[in-house]
Amino acid sequence: MSTSNRPIAAEGSFKNRTVIVSGATGKLGRPICAALAAAGANVVINDVKADAVQELTDSLKSAGHTALLSITLSATSGPEIVAKALEQFGRVDAVINPTLGPIPWKPFEDLTDDDFRAAYENNVLGPISVTKAAWPHFKKQGYGRVVNFTSDSMLGFPTASAYTNTKGALFGMNKTLAMEGAAHGIKVNCVSPIAYHPNMERHILRFSDDVQHAFKTLYQPEANVPMILALVSEGCQASGEVFNTAGWAAGRNVWGNKKGVNGLETVDACLKALGQITEKGGDVFEPHTMVDFTEWQGKYVLNK
Ligand SMILES: NC(=O)c1ccc[n+]([C@@H]2O[C@H](COP(=O)([O-])OP(=O)(O)OC[C@H]3O[C@@H](n4cnc5c(N)ncnc54)[C@H](O)[C@@H]3O)[C@@H](O)[C@H]2O)c1
Repeated sequence: MSTSNRPIAAEGSFKNRTVIVSGATGKLGRPICAALAAAGANVVINDVKADAVQELTDSLKSAGHTALLSITLSATSGPEIVAKALEQFGRVDAVINPTLGPIPWKPFEDLTDDDFRAAYENNVLGPISVTKAAWPHFKKQGYGRVVNFTSDSMLGFPTASAYTNTKGALFGMNKTLAMEGAAHGIKVNCVSPIAYHPNMERHILRFSDDVQHAFKTLYQPEANVPMILALVSEGCQASGEVFNTAGWAAGRNVWGNKKGVNGLETVDACLKALGQITEKGGDVFEPHTMVDFTEWQGKYVLNK
């Protein structure tokens, strides 16, 4: 429930829509499932934690919700998850993928290849598998919604390189899936949320007192849910975007480019230009597609 005590999504606004939530029993998954159920969606509650899946299902049932399907499988079993959803509800309209495996907090040199593999398996291949299995159904019905989860930790989070790597992977495919889905009514977006839990306390010490206070009082998991539900709703026209959400607020992350220096034909010339190239501030161009970027780059390379 939001601070205004209004429901996050209007009752009945997701009626007859089937939404698969993978990583459903985590900090974000739980309030997402609760808000979807309250809005009348058929909710597919998927997570690897059997007890937590059962407990969440029971709590939603006791709140009067019946259109629920509980699945204890890894998100990497996308085809099975989607098949079960179709068998129960006859359609799949959206997938929300807040999956997150255990984070190995280690300096880069101490992380093993298996640490990276496990992070990829849970955080990247899981969301890909569910999305890919739902995709042909989305195409057939001319409608689909996908939300993946990236993170501001991509801006640099020492000892979390296995994690940040996976968040970059989801960011990297966001625009491409949005483009591939465009002709089929499929909207694909990423959310970069903040959902506080007391076990994050040591990580927030780096912030100002005001922001630490906000983490503890305002940045609760459900404060990200309105935008997440908006992105899987019929009304969503945005696609290929990254929304940062926290404390009942949302903004858009941008990928900016600064005009470069041309005529760099020697290492010495490059080293001399580094200061200018890496200078912060100034004009930033935001390309919306790869073509946009390459055309803009071509102009300064060609001195136009
Ligand atoms: N919490 C934050 O502040 C924050 C910040 C930035 C990004 N995010 C991102 O948001 C998403 C959700 O975060 P959270 O805080 O709710 O995480 P969480 O750890 O509370 O929940 C993640 C859930 O995913 C489940 N899971 C793990 N591997 C799975 C698999 N292979 N198949 C199915 N389920 C699996 C876990 O059992 C767990 O229930 C994550 O992708 C995370 O990277 C969270």
